Amino acid sequence: MPHPPLLSPSLLAGDHGQLAASALAAEQAGTNWLHLDIMDGHFVPNFSFGPEVLAALRRAGAKQFFDTHLMLDEPHRYIEPFAKAGANLISIHIEPNYDHCGTLAGIRALGCQAGIVLNPGTPASAIESLLTEVDLVLVMTVQPGFGGQAFRRDMLSKLQQIEKWRRERGLKFRLEVDGGIDLATAQECRTAGADTFVAGTSFYRASDRTAYATSIAGMV
Ligand code: DX5
Ligand code: ZN
Repeated sequence: MPHPPLLSPSLLAGDHGQLAASALAAEQAGTNWLHLDIMDGHFVPNFSFGPEVLAALRRAGAKQFFDTHLMLDEPHRYIEPFAKAGANLISIHIEPNYDHCGTLAGIRALGCQAGIVLNPGTPASAIESLLTEVDLVLVMTVQPGFGGQAFRRDMLSKLQQIEKWRRERGLKFRLEVDGGIDLATAQECRTAGADTFVAGTSFYRASDRTAYATSIAGMV
């Protein structure tokens, strides 16, 4: 059975002076996941926030499933602080050189779900051997680092390849897309096999966020 479509609003597009209010606004729109973008100024040329912010969101009452996207050169050094701060899923990039398999196992040992992420320039084959070790595969549909970029339509064939492996091998991981997602590009990704949709700019700028979330949940 394929997973039903699920929206993960990206807090990167929220108000950084009032992150807790932005997180709660996403929950009030009827969403259960919250995407948290963590940047180190090395793996990507930007900064965002750290584990203290996740802990503060929890203290402020955010109850969502924290979908934590580590854009870090050395993610293995930081999985424990993020797990302790309230992450439910921790996704790590395949591109930097570290023990990917051991880090995924470490994430699960901390009680979190584990995800693997591919940049637009990274082929699907780079993660093929890890498909049995993950709860989620995240296909970046922009070069990571900044919100508000244009969707990369050339990523659709990568989604189709990973969906084919998932189907043929009877695997259950979620297939997530991140970057340039709106109602139209989400539907294109859905058709290519994606089931989990990160949306920053289009969600926070939507005139009716509840209707936006309902539209994602209703995609076929
Ligand atoms: C990009 C981040 C995304 C970002 C998406 O580096 O990984 O999660 O928030 O933003 P939008 O939806 O505006 O493209
Ligand atoms: Zn992200």
